[in-house]
Amino acid sequence: MTVRMHNRLVLPWLGFLALLVAGCSEYTVRGPQIPFLTPVASNGLAKTPPMGWNSWQKFGTGIDDPTIRSIADAMVTTGMRDAGYVYVDVEDGWTNGRDGDGNIEGNAKFPDMKGLADYVHSKGLKFGIYSSPGPYTCAGYMGSYGHELQDAKTFAAWGVDYLKYDWCSAGSVYGNDDSAYRAAYERMGDALVMAGRPVVYSLCEYGRDSPQVWASLVGGNLWRTTGDINDAWASMTGIIELQAPLAKYAGPGRWNDPDALEIGNGNMTDDEYRTQMSLWALTAAPLLAGNDIRTMSAATSSILMNQEVIAVDQDPLGRQAAPVTNGYLQTWIKPLADGSVAVGVVNLGKTAAPASIDARDLHLDGPVKTARDLWAHAGVVFTGGRYSATVPSHATILLRVSST
Ligand code: GAL
Repeated sequence: MTVRMHNRLVLPWLGFLALLVAGCSEYTVRGPQIPFLTPVASNGLAKTPPMGWNSWQKFGTGIDDPTIRSIADAMVTTGMRDAGYVYVDVEDGWTNGRDGDGNIEGNAKFPDMKGLADYVHSKGLKFGIYSSPGPYTCAGYMGSYGHELQDAKTFAAWGVDYLKYDWCSAGSVYGNDDSAYRAAYERMGDALVMAGRPVVYSLCEYGRDSPQVWASLVGGNLWRTTGDINDAWASMTGIIELQAPLAKYAGPGRWNDPDALEIGNGNMTDDEYRTQMSLWALTAAPLLAGNDIRTMSAATSSILMNQEVIAVDQDPLGRQAAPVTNGYLQTWIKPLADGSVAVGVVNLGKTAAPASIDARDLHLDGPVKTARDLWAHAGVVFTGGRYSATVPSHATILLRVSST
């Protein structure tokens, strides 16, 4: 640790000077000059995509301590926790300022962050929080700029297990050049390591500077690949299109993040929500529910807690599927750790369409022996090496197919 701290204090500045002398501008940033030289050590977390709940999609800044506690209660009573959704993430809107020593504080709606974290932990859940590398968050609350290590230590003392770090106002101090993003996120990546508590580190710079290339080098476990999702079909499918080309960057400990689940928020049909769940599972995306867990319908709960679909998302191989598009039908194939394959066919069109899955495209070790429809929870049959079915508009067929 001593050596690492020494290196981090001295070597980066020597390296930075060397780059300046060499006339290389790749690592310079406007505003604070921070070099990007030493990868942040992996925290070993998020071997499968993180699962939990976040407050933003449903509540925006209209959240408070009692709401978070009641959500934590509901995560247990609804079975969400036991289905794997363990993080309860307080999003934007929890802080207004700092005390006289510069320590970040909860606002009037969050008077006791440590007590809240303790409560969440007492339910067998993990506690997440939100900040920005800039001076202010996107909703105008206090960010961590200039207080990164201090905030990381505060978060560690509260018992924070997950940090979403959202670019927001950071461009006003760092600029928006490519290396600015890396440098700003490295600063908090280092701070989290120095604070000494394992924290899942979620980067949110909307995919602007190809975070899939460098985010894990600054300690990131997941990184947003796009702008914000809305509870709308066009938003959800548009976002997953942008996620698709990034498949090769995903793997255990490092995940492309196409934003939260909108399942249960009311503006899509259940078929469309099943499509979101299917696509997020096929692309090994983090599963952060964004609905009001306390009042969700039986349909919403069965979509979010479909264990066979969750198993595809959480598969330890950690492969992200990429699509093959044929007209309005899109086929996604995801190899799984036990040698089986998940295959989804999405109907992007406005009318029902016939889909056909050719077993040869699945690259199994042998002929299909078992196949299950993960939404119907029933076995299906490949005849002559082919499975055929009609896919309703905006619905998805999701199968798990095996040669054993
Ligand atoms: C956006 C971010 C959203 C949410 C929001 C909070 O920048 O993409 O996911 O965190 O800020 O203000």
